[in-house]
Amino acid sequence: MFATKTEVKVGVHVLKELLEFRTLRAGTAYAGDDRTRQSLHVGSLLMSMTFKNSEDKTFLHLLGLMEEGFKLFTLAMPVNFFPFLRFVPGVNYAYQKIIQNRTETSSYFKKIVDEHRRTLDREEIRDFVDAYLVQQEKYKTSGQHSYFSEEQLIQVMNDIFSAGLENVTSTIEWAVLFLMLNPRVQKRIQSEIDEVVGSKRLPQLEDMSRMPYTEATFWEVLRRSNVIALGNTHNTLEIPAGTHILPNLYAINMDPNLWIEPEKFEPQRFLRNGKVYKPDHFIPFSVGRRMCLGDVLTKMEVFLFLSSLLQEFDLCVPDHADPPKALGIVAASMAPKPYQVCAVPRNRCQ
Ligand code: HEM
Repeated sequence: MFATKTEVKVGVHVLKELLEFRTLRAGTAYAGDDRTRQSLHVGSLLMSMTFKNSEDKTFLHLLGLMEEGFKLFTLAMPVNFFPFLRFVPGVNYAYQKIIQNRTETSSYFKKIVDEHRRTLDREEIRDFVDAYLVQQEKYKTSGQHSYFSEEQLIQVMNDIFSAGLENVTSTIEWAVLFLMLNPRVQKRIQSEIDEVVGSKRLPQLEDMSRMPYTEATFWEVLRRSNVIALGNTHNTLEIPAGTHILPNLYAINMDPNLWIEPEKFEPQRFLRNGKVYKPDHFIPFSVGRRMCLGDVLTKMEVFLFLSSLLQEFDLCVPDHADPPKALGIVAASMAPKPYQVCAVPRNRCQ
């Protein structure tokens, strides 16, 4: 059914998500912001690809800590710019709690690293942690200087998990919202699915190159949602050296000089002569050596999720409800405000 190892892993989680859609939501309104469940799939996918430990019992607790961290981050963020604010009571609480949660997640990841070290088979690399440990060992035995260390490995695990989880979950939530509000877009994706995939098998990654409108929709979801409105802080070598700069991605995404009617959700803007066209100024994953390392994984996940979902369902505004507004909640990443959506078998939306 799926072609590559990664695709299998993404596919399994998409299937689980779909099954829940089938049983939970066929025709009944469902809260489109059901974070825990969606985070669970996105999170356990990340875990299985990087740490191969998605069945761990404390995993749910870890998800909770990560989500709490993202909320607290909004409160504590000004400390980056005005360090004295960490002494203000509310901000201080958020700041301390983030540190405390980080310590807890780090000790969870340390256990995973210890377990990997204990069971490491150099001939059978299981995941990212194994690969890191083997590389670290190589440097050590050769006597060469390296930056590989357990502390760094745990930090990277924290980074991948925290950076990957929230953004992809929010992107899927935004995608469902924009599709529900734009039945015309849903129909175009569905006709691509019918033409390229049909109804006898699930969509797979190799279909993406023949489904430009679906890919264009993915880019438009990222642009219009502004999931990541500000990039990471970068330290500069010029202007003058040491200045901290924050890339304002929102300003790029919503600039009327760059986009016609930027407020409008319009996947067509990412198509030219029937092919996906991504202008150079569009950088939702940032650019350069520090750009996001999760861009490919995000595209895979969102593509497989949306195409598998729309193959079977229409996404509609629940009966007697007003269409929700596409408004976001600002935190470390932007999630949509809670909304309700109905997933009904195709062509049955009122
Ligand atoms: C919608 C999905 C995502 C968006 C929009 C996004 C966007 C970004 C952006 C704008 C940056 C800042 C880069 C910079 O300042 O130069 C970043 C950094 C990062 N992202 Fe993502 N990301 C997403 C998903 C992911 C996923 C799935 C992962 C992990 C598998 C991930 C891991 C990271 C890491 C580790 C960094 C820090 C890189 C560094 O500082 O060197 N991201 N991301």
